[in-house]
Amino acid sequence: MQVVDMKKSHLEGAVETVRAHSGEFFYEKEVEAARARFETMLMDRDGAGPVVSCGDVTMGRQLVAVEGDRVLGTMGYLAEAGARDAYRLSYVAVHPDATRKGVGRRLWQAVLEDLKARGGRLVHTWTSPLPYTAGPRAFYESLGFKCVAIVPNHWDDGDDLAIFAIRIDGG
Ligand SMILES: CC(C)(COP(=O)(O)OP(=O)(O)OC[C@H]1O[C@@H](n2cnc3c(N)ncnc32)[C@H](O)[C@@H]1OP(=O)(O)O)[C@@H](O)C(=O)NCCC(=O)NCCS
Repeated sequence: MQVVDMKKSHLEGAVETVRAHSGEFFYEKEVEAARARFETMLMDRDGAGPVVSCGDVTMGRQLVAVEGDRVLGTMGYLAEAGARDAYRLSYVAVHPDATRKGVGRRLWQAVLEDLKARGGRLVHTWTSPLPYTAGPRAFYESLGFKCVAIVPNHWDDGDDLAIFAIRIDGG
């Protein structure tokens, strides 16, 4: 398994990893939103290096874990434009055929290494506290994230936003 920047040839496989969890973790419209995000990121540079930039500042990147041509999973990040060196994970998904084999952890290690090299301070990720996210929450906790805030009724009435965060600068 390798972790690399998403390229155009990975687009369908990456969308498929998200689609495979639709109805369970992702709302249907998120699948098309993921495709739109990935296409925008790939538009100019075919995924060669940082994929969203603003002048010299890297605003985001989407990585894929691949085995040969097959996309096993994806994880990206976006900079929080108004915050100092804070990032939010985007589109975290491992294909159901490949879960619990360390793919998500490998993707996180690559993201973490990248963000530390950029002087990253804080990373957060958004999920829900409801039982359907027990797996992803256990995943984030295994990486050292902690639930730091709840926003009531964010996803839907009765489905809150749970913000998990981790300091990556030792602070
Ligand atoms: C969450 C997800 C990305 C994890 O990816 P993964 O490749 O299966 O995770 P890993 O194999 O690297 O797991 C690393 C550790 O996380 C924890 N973990 C991962 N999935 C877990 C689960 N379903 N239940 C309990 N713990 C889990 C374990 O501690 C695991 O280590 P172990 O297997 O040695 O016990 C994957 O299950 C997924 O795509 N889920 C659906 C989409 C989703 O929820 N995305 C996040 C939206 S917020």
